[in-house]
Formats: sequence, structure tokens, C-alpha cells
Amino acid sequence: MAQEPKSLKDLNRAISHARPFVTGGTKAVLGEGPLHPDLALVGEQPGDQEDLQGRPFVGPAGKLLDRALAEAGIDRDEIYITNAVKHFKYRLRGKRRLHAKPNAGEIKHYRRWLKTEMELVKPRVVVALGASAVLALAGHALTISANRGRTDFDGQCGFITVHPSSLLRIREEKDRRAAFRKFVSDLEKAKEFAAEARCAA
Ligand code: URA
Repeated sequence: MAQEPKSLKDLNRAISHARPFVTGGTKAVLGEGPLHPDLALVGEQPGDQEDLQGRPFVGPAGKLLDRALAEAGIDRDEIYITNAVKHFKYRLRGKRRLHAKPNAGEIKHYRRWLKTEMELVKPRVVVALGASAVLALAGHALTISANRGRTDFDGQCGFITVHPSSLLRIREEKDRRAAFRKFVSDLEKAKEFAAEARCAA
């Protein structure tokens, strides 16, 4: 970015025109949602479906996220949703594009955009979904299990929870249900946090 973008539109134009920093990614998947929301959710990176449709969280993890948001009484249209890394990193197996985890250097590269994005969107609470989002928002790695819950990202009210795709990987149905309930409860807690005066943007 030669010049700091003054609006989200300027930032998104810069992101859309920049060359992907990860192998595989072709087009950028931008954040979506209103300015000044109660919550901004930050995921890791777009997946196959997100890359094809050009929208964040519209694949399997997105469907699960939608269900959790509905159970927590949160309207997806009223919050902001984005990713730490703006391009889909993948490796090919035959014709299948398999998700490849972004490394710390790649997450750091995209971090400047995410910080500017959050400064422009001004959510009351930023919710990190999983370790890559935590690394991007905190600037260093934190264990999710030990840091789950309220936090502070550089003076901004924050909340740490799991990535919805981690729930999809749980084999036992009973365990998956329990993890889903805990995820819903985290979203409820993040919403409560956003209602507190100290989180005013
Ligand atoms: N996983 C993410 O982290 N982000 C998406 O947009 C989809 C899946």
C-alpha cells in the first residue's frame, strides 16, 4: 500500500489489485458486512467455495458458522465477517484444491491489511476464530484453549474462540455437539461483551 487507504472501498481496491502472497490464490475474498458493527469475525483464509463465490464463509465451515450465529441470536447481516489471509492457499491433489494452512510469514504479510480493515470498520468487538486469526490480531501466537474468551487486541476489545472447521473435524457426534454448544456460548459471550460501554469504538 503506497498510501494508507482512507476508506474501506480504497482498502478493498488495494487488496483486489495486489498479487496473492500465497500459492494457489487467484482472486482476493474481501470482508463483508456493515461499518460499526457489534462484532467483526475474523477467520483464517477463504476456502475453495469462498474462492469460487468470492465471499467469506460460504462453504461447509460457513454453513456451520451460520447455524451457530442463528442459535446465538446473531444476525449475520448485522455483523462484519472477514479473514486474516485474503487469498485461498491450496495444493492440488488431482483436480481437487486442498486447503493449505498459511504460515506465520504469510499471516504477517496480510496483517497490515487486516489492521487497517479493523480501523476502518470499527467493530465494538473483534472475534478471532482460531489460531491463524489470533496470530494476525495479537501479532504473536496464543494457545486457543488457554486464552479462549475475552481479550484485548492492541487496545481493541477482542474475543478468542475456535475456528468452526475444527468442529467439523470432531469424529464423535457427542463430542461434536458439546463443542458446538461451547462455540455458540462463546458467540453469545462476545455479543454480551460488545454491549459493554468500554467496547465503544
Ligand atoms: N474458513 C475461513 O477461515 N474462512 C472462510 O472464509 C472459510 C473457511
